[in-house]
Amino acid sequence: MPGTQNPFRPTFGRTPPELIDRDGTLEEFEYGLHIRSGVLGLLSIITGARGVGKTVMLNEAQDLAREQGWAVISETSTEGFLARIADAALLIDQELGDGPPARKVVSFTAGGFGLGTQLPRERQVEFRNLGARLLQRLDAHGTGLLITLDEIQDANRGELLQLAAVLQHWVREGLPVGFVCAGLPAAVSDILDEGVATFLRRADRIDLHSVAIRDVHDSYARQFSKAGISLPEGFLEEAATSTLGYPFLVQLVGYFLWKEAERGAGVVDLASARRAVAIALKRNVRMVVGPAIAKVSERDMDYLRAMSVDPGPSSTAMVAERMKASLQLASNYRARLIEAGLIETAGRGEVTYSIPGLREHLRGGA
Ligand SMILES: Nc1ncnc2c1ncn2[C@@H]1O[C@H](COP(=O)(O)OP(=O)(O)OP(=O)(O)O)[C@@H](O)[C@H]1O
Ligand SMILES: [Mg+2]
Repeated sequence: MPGTQNPFRPTFGRTPPELIDRDGTLEEFEYGLHIRSGVLGLLSIITGARGVGKTVMLNEAQDLAREQGWAVISETSTEGFLARIADAALLIDQELGDGPPARKVVSFTAGGFGLGTQLPRERQVEFRNLGARLLQRLDAHGTGLLITLDEIQDANRGELLQLAAVLQHWVREGLPVGFVCAGLPAAVSDILDEGVATFLRRADRIDLHSVAIRDVHDSYARQFSKAGISLPEGFLEEAATSTLGYPFLVQLVGYFLWKEAERGAGVVDLASARRAVAIALKRNVRMVVGPAIAKVSERDMDYLRAMSVDPGPSSTAMVAERMKASLQLASNYRARLIEAGLIETAGRGEVTYSIPGLREHLRGGA
């Protein structure tokens, strides 16, 4: 125990000490890196609820690509991402090219793609050609370029369309490019349905879900025993179950248990262990549940509350009845909540919460 730092990472976008239950998730992508062009996994879309581990998966994809010597551009979908990707490509191209390093940077800032939301037509062509040149250079080295884009539900559709067009062009030319993006499921479906990018429809869809409780248990057992931490008999079951297999909670619960162990010089009694779990659950409400419902309208909140009566998935007809709303009106609320990533369909005519802890919060418990 002494000297071993708390390994858990209850922080969004941070890679956990043990990546639980994700073996093989990036298999197609990894295979694609070896073939380098025109194969399935090189174009992938990762979807899943908040905190399920999408950004972490993007990080993994980047690591795999770098291991194969690929150049990597990683962006998030705030306005101007296309220009930032173009600028990054320009920079990589200059780094690979010859010429004194000092001049490279100057010409980069002078000739950058700027901060606009969409590239003017001629700049788009410029980006396409610059990228093609870069990809040819990388191809000659037996590598390629990976572009990742996070939070695509927030992406400006025009920018996304332009990026897709350029990517499609490179793929058609047989160039070694990979594109992996991540976003909330409903919003991603919308983007694909809107026909924003027919090209993206062919992407490999990686849908992330909660991890198996058993695997959480085993991972905790490994990590705590490695550090010589002793927990109350049978408590790991309880701790693992309390996470609901939700990756962010897995990190929170592990983190606070570890803190208790530090306080007790490696030994945690049942009261402290339970306290740690309670703190973790509360923290989840503050960090995930609270922000998720902060912008929800009062009527949509009524819908969420009407669901909380049920122990599991709710019948949409029942919810409408409880709200005293017409089916049509209720289906509008439902659509908005699905869009916001707060609920999801669970079989015919049923919906369930997408955010662990939301039900308990609405019931006034946690
Ligand atoms: N497979 C996993 N095993 C254990 N912990 C994980 C796993 N995947 C992610 N985590 C942890 O879960 C938390 C959330 O991960 P991440 O930020 O990737 O989620 P996200 O899906 O991108 O969320 P958001 O939609 O809010 O961006 C982080 O603390 C991360 O360390
Ligand atoms: Mg994320």
